[in-house]
Amino acid sequence: MTTLTYRDYLRIDNLLSIQVPRTPDTARTEVVLAEHFFIVAHQTCELWLKQIIADLGAAAEALAPEPAPGEGGLETGDAELSAEFLERASDLLFVLHAQLVALEKLPLRLFAEFRPYLDTASGAESAQFKALSRLLGDDIDPGRLYEAFRTAAESAGTSMAEVCRLGSRAGVFHRIAELLLDIGNGYWRWKVAHLGLMSRSLGQQAGTGGSSGATYLAGRLTMPFGELRRLRGEVHDEFAANFQAQNAA
Ligand code: HEM
Repeated sequence: MTTLTYRDYLRIDNLLSIQVPRTPDTARTEVVLAEHFFIVAHQTCELWLKQIIADLGAAAEALAPEPAPGEGGLETGDAELSAEFLERASDLLFVLHAQLVALEKLPLRLFAEFRPYLDTASGAESAQFKALSRLLGDDIDPGRLYEAFRTAAESAGTSMAEVCRLGSRAGVFHRIAELLLDIGNGYWRWKVAHLGLMSRSLGQQAGTGGSSGATYLAGRLTMPFGELRRLRGEVHDEFAANFQAQNAA
């Protein structure tokens, strides 16, 4: 019997065979290497997105009172388990952010040389990034994760406003609320860093996907979990009013 090797277990040969620059082999090495760097940054981003989406989906599932039909394999009604998944996803958003910062070391002259080979391919087409955005929600749709959290809190006899008001006394629900805000801010931090990266490389030039570039991306700087942020603002005002009333008495 042969023993399993690192190379086989991780399918290293497959993994290292899929970074294929479109710059012709005849181009200077530094151009090919710059495109290789650009490809690695995008591919690793997609890999981490896969993990983040799976973790956030599992976090929502763990909050459900019962397994949904067809789902299974995960303990439901377990807010602590949900928090564990959320913590990992929150940390991974820092990893995604760090990758964008590293991409700032893509020399402009080399980017300009290989960029025509990207043709109309654009990060805006990333199906996983769209899936992440849907999970986190926006001003119109609160998203599956937040809905699962609200339902779990209500099933436990509390409300989102109460969780915000009680703070650490709301136990695991408070921790989940904090983690959701960490994740929402992590998503936003990535978008701001991406806009910064994009505008330092292209200024006001249009994107390969045909958008106006910086202006388009600036218009997409949404912050997920709007209800939670609004409620916290209201609770903040309640606390401030109580504090003032006590001092005036
Ligand atoms: C030099 C590096 C980069 C540049 C110049 C750049 C440029 C752009 C531009 C101009 C857009 C707007 C759409 C278009 O017209 O193409 C865009 C969108 C996007 N890019 Fe990048 N990008 C870079 C790196 C990355 C990386 C590493 C990722 C990670 C996968 C990424 C993911 C995305 C996503 C997800 C969108 C859509 C954002 C949204 O809908 O809000 N980009 N990018």
